[in-house]
Amino acid sequence: MMSDAIMSQGWSIFVIVLIVINLAGCGWLIWWTMHMRTDDQVEGDESTGHVWDVDLKENNNPLPKWWLNTFYLTLIFTVIYLVLYPGFGNFTGTLGWTQEGQYVEEVAASDAKFGAVYAAFGDASIEDLANNPDAVRIGKNTYDNFCAACHGADARGAISYPNLTDNDWLYGGSGAAVLQTIRNGRNGIMAPFGAVTGADGANEIADWLLADNPDDPSAAAGKARFMSSGCIGCHGINGEGNQALGAPNLTDDIWLHGGTKERIAAIIMNGINNQMPAQLDVIGEDRARLAAAYVLSLSKGTD
Ligand code: HEC
Ligand code: HEC
Repeated sequence: MMSDAIMSQGWSIFVIVLIVINLAGCGWLIWWTMHMRTDDQVEGDESTGHVWDVDLKENNNPLPKWWLNTFYLTLIFTVIYLVLYPGFGNFTGTLGWTQEGQYVEEVAASDAKFGAVYAAFGDASIEDLANNPDAVRIGKNTYDNFCAACHGADARGAISYPNLTDNDWLYGGSGAAVLQTIRNGRNGIMAPFGAVTGADGANEIADWLLADNPDDPSAAAGKARFMSSGCIGCHGINGEGNQALGAPNLTDDIWLHGGTKERIAAIIMNGINNQMPAQLDVIGEDRARLAAAYVLSLSKGTD
């Protein structure tokens, strides 16, 4: 409960009365159990004095005193607790403890502990951090918590979520480019070209992009379409892509949105708007740098 969400006076009194009645009721119940006697009880006899079927007696077998006393102890504990901590209506307790206060304290303690760890890597370049096992380990931790949901636990991505391990980059694989992606997010937008290419044209271009044999007539027509439809402004004259624009390389086998002819033709027809949300506000600068180092470490040695 947040400190500003206190109860109204009426509720507070109601709760206090309930607690008092409950405590008193429990106390009386324990006292009554300890002193229970039946009217028929015979002095010096273990039984309650009740007899059935001539000789069947009901034994009076009271709970041990020490056991009942533990119930008294729980009552005393309750009273002490309600004096120290919030719980008794609006009374906040003499210790002044709040959930919010405890949370703030714990966050401060964890910042003091981990802030120093993160800051220890403060001066190094992302490329250097990618070679530092400690930095990579902490970066992986951040990755697992904040990135894996989209890019996968193994960072190999999924349809529309880029694989981060393959050294194929929409926006570039330098430490600076990866850090910028993480800090500010990215938004890859391609307008629909259906009105320019038509469905047949889109299929032909897809044939060309996927072609094993560029001399195939449909692929050859597709290449001509690609050249004349305004694609090269972003994807380059050979479809090799442009990292400054986030326009993917279309000549490799890596397809962000799925590599079937249907998917590729559909993107040409309908365009695509693919977004990664900015992470700086979520994880802060130090952890963004360590996550970038981890990402870089994944594709090191691959090409
Ligand atoms: C909500 C989903 C989501 C989350 C969370 C997310 N990403 Fe992304 N990320 C994407 C998408 C989608 C893209 C592709 C954006 C585009 O197509 O322009 C992307 C792109 C990237 C790229 C660029 C890849 C390239 O080829 O240039 C990197 C690097 C990256 N993310 C790393 C991270 C890291 C590290 C985190 C965690 C700190 C993270 N992402 C969190 C969805 C996400
Ligand atoms: C204004 C720049 C721009 C133009 C012009 C453009 N594209 Fe794109 N295209 C992009 C961007 C940016 C993406 C990546 C979107 C993303 O991040 O998901 C993309 C993605 C694609 C993809 C999906 C690639 C994959 O890996 O899944 C295909 C296919 C494609 N474009 C083909 C074309 C064709 C064909 C044309 C011309 C008819 C064209 N584009 C024109 C910017 C452009």
